[in-house]
Amino acid sequence: MITRIEVENFKSIKGQKLEDISQIVGIWGKNGSGKSSLLQAILWCLKNGGRFSGNGLHFSNEKDFTYGHDIKNKAKANIIYKDGKYESIGGTTQNWGNDVIHSVRYFPPWRSIIQRSYSIQSQVIRDLALDHQNIHAFMHDFLHGLYDKIRRGDKDAEKLYNQMNDYATKIGFGHLFDIREGGNVTGTYTDEIMGVEIPVVDGGFGGNSFLPILLEGYSFKDGVLLIEEPEISLHPAAQAEVWDFFVEMARERNHQIIFTSHSDYLLKRIVKSYNDENFDENLVTVLKAEKTKDGTTFNKVPKENIMKLPYEKKSKTLIEELTERT
Ligand SMILES: Nc1ncnc2c1ncn2[C@@H]1O[C@H](COP(=O)(O)OP(=O)(O)OP(=O)(O)O)[C@@H](O)[C@H]1O
Ligand SMILES: [Mg+2]
Repeated sequence: MITRIEVENFKSIKGQKLEDISQIVGIWGKNGSGKSSLLQAILWCLKNGGRFSGNGLHFSNEKDFTYGHDIKNKAKANIIYKDGKYESIGGTTQNWGNDVIHSVRYFPPWRSIIQRSYSIQSQVIRDLALDHQNIHAFMHDFLHGLYDKIRRGDKDAEKLYNQMNDYATKIGFGHLFDIREGGNVTGTYTDEIMGVEIPVVDGGFGGNSFLPILLEGYSFKDGVLLIEEPEISLHPAAQAEVWDFFVEMARERNHQIIFTSHSDYLLKRIVKSYNDENFDENLVTVLKAEKTKDGTTFNKVPKENIMKLPYEKKSKTLIEELTERT
């Protein structure tokens, strides 16, 4: 778990310290306010930045990722993660180790196009959202591991499989499984209503955008999931249920989740959680990202003000504001 983040001169962030970071952090703010800059600073510090250049995150050019393009003031990130201190300064990344690289996963807002099938001989790359083509091979490995455990009577594996399929159904899929034809695997599911077997690639954009998050989230424990706009292509009800998924990931898989969002539905569900008797308020922090003359600021939004996000109007919702007759 990341407990502290200090960023200086990285993209839109001139200087920000975030302390006592909770297990779930949701960042709301207008387009260009600097939400993703924070996720990217974490990646830059904890992962080998160059690895992401093929996916549109170019951390290789120091000038571009330095605040104001002024490399006299070096970009800097200090992160406390699992009791270790990690630091990046300027073009270099120091102190990153294998453990960190494998437990931090980044889900960009562009989820790449998946293939219809995939060779099972190929090496499975674990960053699904970054290499979405491998989703079939990943599903194959992961599901077969689960089937084996379930066959041996492992109740936890069965519970996990059922929970995963519940969410798969909420995003328009159904019961997930895989088929193997020759050397290829195809991730498939059973359509709940029609009872037809469908390759995931034909399952709708919402499901396909969320599938990497779903599979990776269930496939391991104790990770840090950095998720850009989990609501992409999801129906409002499914956007709200993303929150339930996050809570389950935090409580049962012990993942930390740091995400950016514009979704009002997701926010409303957070507010609903606050009213639940058993909900631990310390589980989540909602941050508001704002662009100022001195770069992006991140401020914790008190519980009672959360519903004013993202509109910042005291009494009206954004829809009331935009549809009002003048
Ligand atoms: N090197 C830099 N120095 C200063 N500002 C920068 C630099 N690079 C990018 N920016 C600013 O950062 C902002 C983009 O930040 P970011 O991508 O984090 O926004 P965001 O809140 O995630 O937006 P969206 O909701 O559209 O994804 C832009 O407004 C851009 O002007
Ligand atoms: Mg963004």
